[in-house]
Amino acid sequence: MFEFGNVRFRPVEKEDLKQLHEWENDFEVIMYSRSRPMNFLNMAQLEKQYEDWVKEERELHFIVELVDSKEAIGIARIEKQDWANVKTASVGTYIGKKELWGKGLGRQITVALLEMSFHQLNADRCEAWSVEFNVRAHKALESCGFKKGGAMRQAIFVNGQKWDGFHFDILRDEYLSMRMDLLKQTLKDDLEGYLKKHCTIEGH
Ligand SMILES: CC(C)(COP(=O)(O)OP(=O)(O)OC[C@H]1O[C@@H](n2cnc3c(N)ncnc32)[C@H](O)[C@@H]1OP(=O)(O)O)[C@@H](O)C(=O)NCCC(=O)NCCS
Repeated sequence: MFEFGNVRFRPVEKEDLKQLHEWENDFEVIMYSRSRPMNFLNMAQLEKQYEDWVKEERELHFIVELVDSKEAIGIARIEKQDWANVKTASVGTYIGKKELWGKGLGRQITVALLEMSFHQLNADRCEAWSVEFNVRAHKALESCGFKKGGAMRQAIFVNGQKWDGFHFDILRDEYLSMRMDLLKQTLKDDLEGYLKKHCTIEGH
């Protein structure tokens, strides 16, 4: 488990599938997160997806929960890729509890994904995709140092219209140069405890 401020990243268990069934069939959540809101998933499909996740070592899937209440609020994913001798972490998240959108949690989750990718998994770069209309996600990514790169023009059709798909990435050095500022901003009073737990090993 990985704790970051008031959120915890833990493995997805079979018992979580009921909650995932609700989120994965929520038109708005899936419209923003995957641009395929009509991609309904029944329980059998979710169970199959879960079995695939269990087998696939390159992909880390997490339930994101609140530390105090243990309430599951969303999911996150890191896919480890090693293409052309460069280690890339491809990240994604959604907050399934829509009443929690716009309260700073997405930014916090994004910084946590960067910490896991760069500080634990030793990635060289980190990348994410988002659809043109998802301004909230772009802001969350850009405020954590991601830079918008290319666009896949008119590659997505949602709600009667074609949209571009945007690619974002951040390099290891870029992250490291802003890391302490980001950690201070997001963790505030929890910073010292976090650094103690994740940046030192007792006796070394
Ligand atoms: C995208 C998502 C993870 C962002 O998390 P969040 O907690 O809602 O966002 P935050 O409160 O952390 O805000 C992130 C940024 O968006 C801005 N923002 C918040 N609400 C906004 C809105 N309605 N419109 C535009 N910008 C908004 C914030 O000001 C912040 O920008 P800043 O850091 O420059 O100030 C979350 O909204 C979500 O899960 N959405 C549905 C699924 C999804 O889009 N997943 C991501 C796919 S790439």
